[in-house]
Amino acid sequence: MPSWVLFPRLHLAEVEDQPWCPEWLREHTHRALARMWQTSNTANGSPATQASTLLLRALGGPKNAAQFTFIDACAGSGGPTPLLEPAVNAKLTDKGYPPVEFILTDLRPDMEAWEGITKRSEHISFIREPIDATRPQRLAKPGTKECRLFHLCFHHFDDPAAEQVLASAVQSTDAFMIFEMTHRTLPSLLNTTIVILSCLITTIFDFYWSPLHLLCTYIIPIVPLFYAIDGYVSCIRGRTAEEISALLQRQQPKLNLDGWEFNSGEQTALLPFGKMYWYSGVKKT
Ligand SMILES: C[S@@+](CC[C@H](N)C(=O)[O-])C[C@H]1O[C@@H](n2cnc3c(N)ncnc32)[C@H](O)[C@@H]1O
Repeated sequence: MPSWVLFPRLHLAEVEDQPWCPEWLREHTHRALARMWQTSNTANGSPATQASTLLLRALGGPKNAAQFTFIDACAGSGGPTPLLEPAVNAKLTDKGYPPVEFILTDLRPDMEAWEGITKRSEHISFIREPIDATRPQRLAKPGTKECRLFHLCFHHFDDPAAEQVLASAVQSTDAFMIFEMTHRTLPSLLNTTIVILSCLITTIFDFYWSPLHLLCTYIIPIVPLFYAIDGYVSCIRGRTAEEISALLQRQQPKLNLDGWEFNSGEQTALLPFGKMYWYSGVKKT
């Protein structure tokens, strides 16, 4: 049963989206998100592992998935892709299909993180230049289909921008999938509270070498405040599947949705409260 939506959506501002937000604060939360994607405490594995299963299912199984190049459209510092890529490719190669390629892109490319990721995987590459997800070019390797992935980022777009993101996906790709873990629901608000508090522990592991991070977490609590603002604002900006569908439907007939199949769902990805909300669009040809 879908979680209850507690209040209407408001497009409030996240600190991370502001040009004046210091890069070290962005890096801090992106690392926390990468850790959240990897944390495994359910029978179905980590959120990243669950996303790989959902992605393959949405595309119709390994045979269809093997035809795609996957674009991580708002990659941050990598999000789930370092785990998603091996999980998807293991399932493809098990069935005798060749591995597929993943490409990291973002409005603010995190070169340091991406260079580390691509060194560890021959099937992940990145685009060095900033790419705005509201007007990207098709990037799939020639001869392959394109699937655009939006991990924990679709809530960053206000309605006009979100319409552009969806229109571009429908017009220039063959599939897209949105994953969110923040929403206007009680489980999401509780899970976000855990993520906010987690910075009190993770800072010491991730940034023990940095007096700035330690000072701004434990002495002047700028980091926890930043996590709280962006975490709860992300929840307030979350969209239901119906709201995403409405963004597509109201662009008709200019936007041709013929042949597209849309699905959505939610499932527990992190105990005790973390729900993953997903929305997929696949062109059935
Ligand atoms: C909350 S982070 C999510 C990062 C990563 N996908 C993850 O799951 O950990 C949101 C990301 O969206 C990116 N972003 C925001 N607006 C964007 C846009 N218009 N085009 C491309 N990326 C954008 C930000 O730079 C940031 O890296």
